[in-house]
Amino acid sequence: MTGGNGNLYLPMGPATNILLMTINYSHDIATALLAVSGIAMLMLWKSYPATADAATERYFISAYRGITRVAKDSLYWILLAGVPRIVFYMDYEWSDLAGDHQIIAVIIKHILMFLLVGTGVYSWMKLSRRVKALHEKQQTPA
Ligand code: HEM
Repeated sequence: MTGGNGNLYLPMGPATNILLMTINYSHDIATALLAVSGIAMLMLWKSYPATADAATERYFISAYRGITRVAKDSLYWILLAGVPRIVFYMDYEWSDLAGDHQIIAVIIKHILMFLLVGTGVYSWMKLSRRVKALHEKQQTPA
């Protein structure tokens, strides 16, 4: 972490400040997008009929691919935007009122986030194997 603008030789000014704050904010928005993708995927999978016809299978595979794309891009963006956020934490987010305890809070929040995301990635990988099997079944002539 750095304290004070300009330590990283960035041309600091109103535009850079607003850009950095927007990137910080986008870390949260991308987290929301990732969460919504996970919930949507879960709901879609839970309502997948046990006896699906070929059209339903095709629909599900296509929805799976679209939602997975959004989830992946959100995760990449979260990780990318986390870097400037932590580098400039002291400049944009540090609160004297909360003091050193906020560091512990950030760590606890992120342990929770990594646990949630880890569980999500694990379930997604299991689902991807089932979708792959569905796709192969679609390709096999009846
Ligand atoms: C799956 C990965 C991650 C998720 C889901 C995630 C999610 C979040 C969320 C929701 C917040 C807002 C917390 C609040 O305002 O109370 C936040 C804040 C923050 N994140 Fe992440 N984050 C992730 C990874 C990272 C990484 C890799 C970094 C650093 C390289 C990082 C750095 C930060 C910083 C510095 C803050 C501001 C401090 C705070 O409020 O906690 N994050 N993150």
